[in-house]
Amino acid sequence: MSDIKKKENTVGKISNGMERTYIGELNKKVGEEVKICGWVDVRRDHGKLIFIDLRDMSGKVQMVALPNHTEAHTSANTVRPEWVVEVTGKVNARPERMVKKDEVNGAVEIEMLSLVVLNEAITPPIDVRGNGIEINEEARLKNRFLDLRRSRMQKNIRNRGKVVLLTRNILEKEGFCEIETPNLTNATAEGSRNFIVPSRLERGSFYVLPQSPQQYKQLLMVSGFEKYFQFARCFRDEDSRGDRQPEFTQMDLEMSFVTEEDVMAVNEKAIIEIVQKLYPQKKIQQIPFPKIPYKEAMEKYGTDKPDTRTDKNDPNLLAFAWIVDFPMFEKTDEGKWTFTHNPFSTPKQESMSDLMNKTNIEKIIAAQFDLVLNGNEMGGGSIRNHKPEALRKVLEIMGFDDNKIESEYGQLLGALATGAPPHGGIAWGLDRMMMILENEPNIREVIAFAKTGEGKDLMMNTPGPVSADLLRDLGLEIKKKK
Ligand code: AMO
Repeated sequence: MSDIKKKENTVGKISNGMERTYIGELNKKVGEEVKICGWVDVRRDHGKLIFIDLRDMSGKVQMVALPNHTEAHTSANTVRPEWVVEVTGKVNARPERMVKKDEVNGAVEIEMLSLVVLNEAITPPIDVRGNGIEINEEARLKNRFLDLRRSRMQKNIRNRGKVVLLTRNILEKEGFCEIETPNLTNATAEGSRNFIVPSRLERGSFYVLPQSPQQYKQLLMVSGFEKYFQFARCFRDEDSRGDRQPEFTQMDLEMSFVTEEDVMAVNEKAIIEIVQKLYPQKKIQQIPFPKIPYKEAMEKYGTDKPDTRTDKNDPNLLAFAWIVDFPMFEKTDEGKWTFTHNPFSTPKQESMSDLMNKTNIEKIIAAQFDLVLNGNEMGGGSIRNHKPEALRKVLEIMGFDDNKIESEYGQLLGALATGAPPHGGIAWGLDRMMMILENEPNIREVIAFAKTGEGKDLMMNTPGPVSADLLRDLGLEIKKKK
């Protein structure tokens, strides 16, 4: 005990003054007396010997209560799974034949000297020990705070944090500036339905939650930031699927004075570094990532997000591909022209005269590129239309009249007229990327608090009614369904 630093007792009775050791560090402390804290994973009662596996954020360890340490033995007898306890004990090396080589603490065991219960727990409504895949998903989402205790979810969420941090570091080294843009904003054209937020101060008016930070990031280029990125929360009122949530995260990026090649190169380099540093067991099938023209993808694979893996059963194979040369416009069911991705993309140089003359519309090719990974659309980007007169032509082809152009795009058109640099960018769907890197079947497994297919947060009971007072303040009235 002498070599353990004495500390001010800050937690009253529960702390014995010893500094806490994280369970993941125990293998370096053989022979020492330590204090550890965490959740009881399992308790195995062998009569004289009571075994408890204890879990904290750094790992798991087996502890044993021997009958000669009476107090510890008595307390160990009372605890149940998911109780929160503080234990002092001796770190013993396990006998050679008992060593579990593939576990962090497989070579050590804690001999319990004391056990203090910090909090009891009811029998958990869901088992948090296995990988949880067999448990009804509604029950998991309803009890998400518990579901997140399981090691698979801890791994997914922690690795997501690592991917975000490494991406930030990579982009900061490349000269990018992280800038936040508003969530209470106006409509952006990404082709989905909007979520709206009523204004209290201006009754009858609404904010729109962004489907992406597209307009803001273009405006930041007009402002002269030149290299911007952000982990942006995006909102799209569309039916959820395995790879879609109403609220999701993009790694959103924009650069000035660049070509399609430049944007793809920066992203490709970042992604390769992320995979190599954080997922060294994974193999990228082809570097540089192949570039497949849209037409070729459709002819060869029948889809614009082809799964080009040479072995679809290899869980560690990552087949990235850039899909390029998308048509700029497509016909709607009503026979009108609409954009295939978004109205902001510029046509390729060779299609510019067709755009300006509104000729051969079906042949106009956009400077648009999608990033596909193992058959999933992981990201999309383009070089933008930085000339207001060219953007106006796109809107006119889509049949927008002057009023609509002015009310929805007037502000961007005005900004582009103030000296907008040529610019372009991309957004990765972070959730989809994590789903594939973690070999998960859907994005809910990599989102801490995910929503159901019906867009519900079962844990928070959202969406739900609001008080009559709030509705009155907002000047809203709910019409009863007839
Ligand atoms: P896009 O609409 O293609 O482009 O979106 C970029 C990426 O975001 C992911 N994504 C989603 N992920 C989860 N749930 C959803 N509902 C969802 N919708 C999209 C996909 C997709 O590839 N502003 C442009 C980007 C740009 O041009 O820079 C945009 O939002 O992985």
